[in-house]
Amino acid sequence: MTQEPNLLLRGVGELVTNDSNSPDGGLLGIVRNAAAAICGGKVAWAGPLEDLPDEYFELPDLDCHGRAVLPGFVDSHTHLVFAGERGDEFMRRLQGDSYESILEAGGGIQSTVRATRRAVEESAAVGLVESARPRAERMLAHGTTTVEIKSGYGLDVPTELRMLEAATAVGTVVPIDTVCTVMGAHVVPPEFADDRNGYLQLFEEEMLPLLAPLARYCDVFCDRGAFSVAEARRILEAGKRHGLRPKLHAEQLAATGAAQLAAEVGAVSADHLDHIDSESAAALAAAGTVATLLPSASFSLRTPQAPARMLWDTGVTVALATDCNPGTSYVESMQFVVALAVMEMGLTPAEAVWAATRGGAYALEEPAKGWIGAGSAADLVILDAPSHVHIPYRPGANLVWKVIKDGVVVAGEDDRASPHVLPRREVGELSERSED
Ligand code: NIG
Ligand code: FE
Repeated sequence: MTQEPNLLLRGVGELVTNDSNSPDGGLLGIVRNAAAAICGGKVAWAGPLEDLPDEYFELPDLDCHGRAVLPGFVDSHTHLVFAGERGDEFMRRLQGDSYESILEAGGGIQSTVRATRRAVEESAAVGLVESARPRAERMLAHGTTTVEIKSGYGLDVPTELRMLEAATAVGTVVPIDTVCTVMGAHVVPPEFADDRNGYLQLFEEEMLPLLAPLARYCDVFCDRGAFSVAEARRILEAGKRHGLRPKLHAEQLAATGAAQLAAEVGAVSADHLDHIDSESAAALAAAGTVATLLPSASFSLRTPQAPARMLWDTGVTVALATDCNPGTSYVESMQFVVALAVMEMGLTPAEAVWAATRGGAYALEEPAKGWIGAGSAADLVILDAPSHVHIPYRPGANLVWKVIKDGVVVAGEDDRASPHVLPRREVGELSERSED
């Protein structure tokens, strides 16, 4: 059955609009007993049910029975396309090896590069799409409606190209929007181990011209054991010349000055920031660079979390993302990320939900996403819960009831399967049965 992208959500117990001008005055702009009208795949109206204009009464409707409705999660930092897995490395880390020592010994990112190159030799982009697809489907099922995907496991021209082709294709086989980033500067590949400059030249002269038309952003792993601040500056400036806006993996493993660089080059976001100090935070705030925090990466590496509270209180726009990758964060659920941000980083549930929706939309420069109101995208999550607070309150469960993408229900439970809409048996009826 094809569903028209026209829909009236009614019975919304808590509508998270992310509009701070809304009457409740809070960060999430919560409206209670709300409705949202979707026409032609966009939100046409949202507000208290009692104010619903007559023209929307005739739309096909979906009764939410008091559930909470949020903007779809915008996962603004992932490495979703890759081949293989690194469970063995995970076990080694549990036994005491460090992420950096495994990388130095030719494992870590390099082992995924080997697997990804092999997959591309065997089946071009096809195998990469096939392995990324179930991950994207699980993201969607957990409420993510837009996902950013980086290259960076090819580190040669053909494999980087196939990665971005696969990332684009994922968005055609799964109803999720994809935004692509060139990350040919993830690490230096082994064949250039003695010629870093040669690799940077290859990146600038061959990769960028070919890859830039497939992507919006250029990202670089600027950290101890990866690229220096000077190298990262060169990479991001080259990306800019090809129309790619800069992003950085910054200060994940050590304080390097990468966050200052992000501010200097006018990066759209600086990501990770586990080691950022207050001076660099002020620089990000002044530059309008989003701080994209990745609590599931620090969780998986068992390293200290980024100073989210300090960043937020300094006035930096904060986004949350999964960093989904086979090494530091094999995590697909933004609900889990929100729970970690609250329990391990000290954000409030409202701040964490805002950062996972509107913050992510800022990090991807998607002005119609991350909020709900007239003119916004009709990318919505209906929780099988009465409030956004249940996301950190009940970690580990998928609380999604339904996911709506461009006005169409694309994932979630069948109505008949939901306890909220089953014909309820009275308590008396149950005890009568048990007496039988
Ligand atoms: O964001 N730190 C650099 N890049 C990824 C990890 C990639 C990997 O280990 O495969 C990250 O954590
Ligand atoms: Fe990353």
